[in-house]
Amino acid sequence: MTRETWATRVGFVLAAVGSAVGLGNVWRFPWVTAENGGSAFLLVYLFVVLVVGVPGLVGEFVVGRRAKRNPVGALRDLSGSRAWTAVGGVSVVTALVLLSFYSVVGGWIIRYFVESALALAGGPLPYAANPGAYFGGVSTGVDALAYHLLFLALTGAVVLGGVRRGIELGTTVMMPVVFALLVALAAWAATQPGATAGYAFYLSFDLATLRTNVFSVLAPAAGQALFTLSLGAGTMITYASYLGEDRSLPVDAGTIALLNTLVGVLAGLVVFPLLFSLGVDPGSPGPGALFVSIAGAFVRLPAGTLVASVFFGVVALAALSSSISMLELPVAVLVDEIGLDRRRAVALSMSVFAVTGAAAALDASVFELFAVTLVDRLLTAGLAVFLLFVGWVLGRDALAEFRAGAGPLAARLATPWLYVVGVVLPLFLVFTLLTGVGLDARVGFWPTVTLAVGIVLALFLAVRSPRSVL
Ligand code: TRP
Repeated sequence: MTRETWATRVGFVLAAVGSAVGLGNVWRFPWVTAENGGSAFLLVYLFVVLVVGVPGLVGEFVVGRRAKRNPVGALRDLSGSRAWTAVGGVSVVTALVLLSFYSVVGGWIIRYFVESALALAGGPLPYAANPGAYFGGVSTGVDALAYHLLFLALTGAVVLGGVRRGIELGTTVMMPVVFALLVALAAWAATQPGATAGYAFYLSFDLATLRTNVFSVLAPAAGQALFTLSLGAGTMITYASYLGEDRSLPVDAGTIALLNTLVGVLAGLVVFPLLFSLGVDPGSPGPGALFVSIAGAFVRLPAGTLVASVFFGVVALAALSSSISMLELPVAVLVDEIGLDRRRAVALSMSVFAVTGAAAALDASVFELFAVTLVDRLLTAGLAVFLLFVGWVLGRDALAEFRAGAGPLAARLATPWLYVVGVVLPLFLVFTLLTGVGLDARVGFWPTVTLAVGIVLALFLAVRSPRSVL
């Protein structure tokens, strides 16, 4: 059977934007920003999106389009080496860690959407009386498990439809809706009292705090930037493997990063004014911020139930358009490498995610391990090793693939790009990883050391490669 491709270029871009825009922009961004001091964090984050994100996206696209295979098969085919195949295999593990907690958070979102919508129809709003206690009760345990399975089932339903009739169709419908509704919500939030204080916290680029903080925010800012762009796990390799004819990869990567950042800023324009509108302290919100502070703010505002329904509906769509990219990765591996049909591949992957996600739903420490400790480090180290591959192992072929379909101007960027992804970015990412060791001394030390050793091993593999131009 021939491998599926995207029907249109816009379809591919929107699918990738759908992967990028998600809980990272709406749920994760506000609390990670607040935890790391606001504006200084924001600047470093934007810097990483531009300097690491865009060239990194091109790197994943180059490999995916060149190999026309899932990450495992792609690294094997392009390197002919077992060690690099194993590196591709790590992406499956990363996707597992990702979707396991993502699906739990997606489940929380669905629950809040359902409850807000039911209240709109006349019922009581269960989280209104005491949002903190309510969230504490439903965020872990059987409740969380049930909604995790529901969210996973929705994800599976889209992926089951295949590349064109599932993912592409789904995201081309979902993304414009998400965008339009976020604009409406931001406009509504602007009319709330206290909005100005929210903007001030969010948008004051305070260079003085940046000077004292830059190293302490580097690791979380880089982690957040990679997370929001879906980089370092191989999902963008997978999506680019469905590209048919050659189009400009740098232009597509720039477009995707730009649209993702726009949505991120928009989401901030919704979330921060609300956090401030009722004097909620953004200082120590944690993963519950959206569900405690924001949900608490909604219920005290006029038309709050309606706005809450729209808000959680939008976030649910954004989350779904991302989770499908995580599920598609192991599905592509099973289809390409083992020859399973899509139905079986989806069923098998979903069964695994159902179990690992259940662990995160039932045990808050597993959730924290996945969502906080592991994910940033896996993405940062994963991208560093992957970019070594692009720069040194793919080498000349990466240049050719970069130029294919690119305009004359972009084509001239190919060589500088290869030096950036092959040398500068891996060094930067390793440095970032190491600055993060002290941040989370309880649990962060050994994972970081292990990953750093992995990167050094990859470097040895990389420099011996015959096709390297570096
Ligand atoms: N980018 C998505 C978000 O912001 C999440 C996501 C999807 C992701 N695929 C990924 C994150 C791959 C890291 C790697 O919600």
